[in-house]
Amino acid sequence: MIENMFKNNKIADQFNRYNDVLEQVLGYDKIFSFFSGKSIDTILDYGCGPGKVSLRLAQQTNAHILAVDESQKMINLAKTERSHKNVVYGVVENDSLKDVQENTIGGAIACYVFINNHSESRIQHIMAEIYRVLQPGSCFIILDTNPNTTGIPFSTFQNGVTSKHYGYGESRVETLHVSQGENLILHDFHWPNRMYENNLKKAGFLNIQVTYPVLSDFTTAQLKEIKKRYHYNGWTNEKTKAPFIMYQAIK
Ligand SMILES: C[S@@+](CC[C@H](N)C(=O)[O-])C[C@H]1O[C@@H](n2cnc3c(N)ncnc32)[C@H](O)[C@@H]1O
Repeated sequence: MIENMFKNNKIADQFNRYNDVLEQVLGYDKIFSFFSGKSIDTILDYGCGPGKVSLRLAQQTNAHILAVDESQKMINLAKTERSHKNVVYGVVENDSLKDVQENTIGGAIACYVFINNHSESRIQHIMAEIYRVLQPGSCFIILDTNPNTTGIPFSTFQNGVTSKHYGYGESRVETLHVSQGENLILHDFHWPNRMYENNLKKAGFLNIQVTYPVLSDFTTAQLKEIKKRYHYNGWTNEKTKAPFIMYQAIK
């Protein structure tokens, strides 16, 4: 099994400091608005990293968040920097949610997790575990980098080399701009749409829908509001090209 690079202290610390404004605006915010206002008891955040999304999810919904990651370092960062009365952080081993009973979780998310897994059978196992614990009728949302815009530079990151064709599951370097002059280099994998769709179906999910959010989806007034809220206006290719892919699937 390839070692998870997020177990490395330096990588976990750099990821913790990365300004995820782009992921927020074109990814996480859509997850928060999907879950807020719904009466859901518990949401699973699989591969929660340092807890940036779990904390915001707890702040923007009434749900309890079960946030798991296989990196002890990430869970330590999450517990120290992003504790919240409604979030329980824990280390997951062998992709198994063994302490969670089937049909008990009201919603699940996995943000930027599958691109970090080189084994399709592992991904299939995680999807099957998530399916097992979800209540019938509840939603699983996957957010990942968009395989169809590999090689295109975005304002805060670039995934893969420009103009290179990547094969199924091929390794790919992702560069995140952490601060001026400092880049975080991640090693992830190129999974085309069919990998997500086939494995979600195999796990038993229905109504699989995919979206590709871009900045031009927003009105001028909304963009002004985003600029004010995030103190950020350095947008580039994400105005018209989607940096991320979002799947929603129902058990
Ligand atoms: C890029 S980080 C994203 C963290 C968080 N979801 C976010 O959006 O900020 C990916 C995380 O997924 C975790 N991860 C990757 N593969 C995993 C697996 N098979 N089981 C559990 N966690 C995993 C890594 O340890 C890392 O913390």
